[in-house]
Amino acid sequence: MKRILTYGTFDLLHYGHIRLLQRAKALGDYLIVALSTEEFNNLKGKQTYHNYETRKKMLEAVRYVDLVIPEESWEQKIDDVKKYQVDVVVMGGDWAGSDKFEYLKDYCEVVYLDRTEGISTTKIKEDLKLQNPISGIDQIPEPNEKEK
Ligand code: CTP
Repeated sequence: MKRILTYGTFDLLHYGHIRLLQRAKALGDYLIVALSTEEFNNLKGKQTYHNYETRKKMLEAVRYVDLVIPEESWEQKIDDVKKYQVDVVVMGGDWAGSDKFEYLKDYCEVVYLDRTEGISTTKIKEDLKLQNPISGIDQIPEPNEKEK
């Protein structure tokens, strides 16, 4: 059983999130999502539209997700990897150039997955503010054979 772990806020769940979860799950058998709590978001200066419980319920309804745990600090990752016997930590491609998570390589594999172009929670919020909800892309990229 290969266990995958990823981190995020997943507010206003969108297809960029779904594609990330789909590709993360395809790397193994069991996908754990560490979901940022409201306290942790406050610390990062981030405010969500949906509270933790709502974001958790929505993630639990996604078929690629097996378990949702709280993300409460930057420092918890090694403990999470040990506690849940994680084989691979998946980070968003936006972190790929940095060495911020390289220390995890002593404990598990670290894989960076590219972000889906043209969508983000911030963009959705901005577009709705501008009453411009039709500015999304026309077609969601298809999964490859293994990701289906
Ligand atoms: N993600 C992605 N493609 C996108 C948006 C997000 O692959 N278009 C991934 C991120 O890289 C991360 C996970 O989804 O691994 C959760 O990202 P999160 O920050 O919650 O989503 P964003 O839409 O980027 O939110 P925000 O605009 O608030 O930063």
